Amino acid sequence: MTDQPDEVRAAELRNKFVDELKVEGTITSPRIEAAMRKVPRHLAVPDSSLDDAYSTYNAVVTQTDEHGNHVSSVSAPQIQAMQLEQGGIREGDRVLEIGTNGPNAAYAAELTGPAGQVTTVDIDPAPAARARAFLAATGYHDVRVLVADAESGAPDHAPYDVILVTVGAWDIPPAWTELLAENGRLVVPLRVNGLTRTYGFIREGDHLVATSAFPCGFVPMQGAGAHAQQSMQLPGDPGVTLYFDEAPPADPSLLDGVLDTPRAEVWTGVSVASQEPIGTFQMYLATHVPTYCTMTINPETATGKIGPTGLPFSMVAVDGPNFGYVVVRRDTEKKTAEFGFHAFGPDGAGFAERLAGIVRSWDEKQRGGSGPRVAVHPAGTPDDQLTGRVVDKAHSRISISWPDA
Ligand SMILES: C[S@@+](CC[C@H](N)C(=O)[O-])C[C@H]1O[C@@H](n2cnc3c(N)ncnc32)[C@H](O)[C@@H]1O
Repeated sequence: MTDQPDEVRAAELRNKFVDELKVEGTITSPRIEAAMRKVPRHLAVPDSSLDDAYSTYNAVVTQTDEHGNHVSSVSAPQIQAMQLEQGGIREGDRVLEIGTNGPNAAYAAELTGPAGQVTTVDIDPAPAARARAFLAATGYHDVRVLVADAESGAPDHAPYDVILVTVGAWDIPPAWTELLAENGRLVVPLRVNGLTRTYGFIREGDHLVATSAFPCGFVPMQGAGAHAQQSMQLPGDPGVTLYFDEAPPADPSLLDGVLDTPRAEVWTGVSVASQEPIGTFQMYLATHVPTYCTMTINPETATGKIGPTGLPFSMVAVDGPNFGYVVVRRDTEKKTAEFGFHAFGPDGAGFAERLAGIVRSWDEKQRGGSGPRVAVHPAGTPDDQLTGRVVDKAHSRISISWPDA
């Protein structure tokens, strides 16, 4: 007898993650619930344990590149459920999944039913082969699996009612909008200012309007849509590197000598609870400072002038010759953390105060709110047709406007 996975145990684990995702509110649609209770996702990752295959919040990495970077995975059930809810796939829909491995395409096929069509595409033949084997073994024979760079979509089977992008994108290539039916939905993990959110967009003519956005993490796009962040060493500190997801400051030499100035420190009086989501906080800061970026500090080579920030990630702002970053101080009894800023530069103290003002304004106007209105317009759209902060990508102009701003 061959080693059969324990199907009873697999079904138990499937029901367990679905129950968990219902309780936390990620799964709200009964049809998505039924699809996720049904598809035997462990068969897509035969080398993983059942516990790993059914881990609610962890992806199963299926491929790494020569540098050890993850390039393909079966996404975590929580992320898949979130994106399926954003997609709102109906029976009979035509769906394109970008980035494949099998399980998510099977969920999509459950949701479209036999009257719909699912096409799934991967730039890499290996995940496509895994998806084909999985879909054949689990009976989803009608799902089309293609190998192509999805930067140009899969035009032969368009228009699509829903495009589900399951790989991290930096831009929205024109094909994704053009291949959508009017009012069709594009679900895409999109990075803006280094902050990745899975956005649920609706097509309205030549542009897309977001109706939902949730923080998430994905392996990055390869091919024509791949995007490398630009980096620079902070002048005066060989251990501190700044990373710019969009354009770096127009004149980085203005930062020369920035660390020769005294460090200003300002506390905001704004505290967050340890489990409180701060996604809108990061986005608010990113869209209200002149240049937003992130940084890494190499403790072996850093001067010690920067940090510690008290955070596992960084939020950094540059304004001409001034440089500042978020720090936190924790209240262990109340389990809260207060935001503050360190800043350097000729107007370091004033810059730290301005940054603190942005945080106070987030606290007053946006905290707990639904976040900004985000829309994606084609490159070349005139400024007067856009509202709020505009982030320019290669193919698109992303407008981000806050309610009551
Ligand atoms: C997270 S995996 C997909 C997971 C899958 N949807 C599932 O069932 O969970 C992301 C995939 O996107 C693929 N990918 C990266 N860049 C791509 C591109 N330009 N076009 C199509 N696929 C791409 C990768 O090869 C990888 O297999």
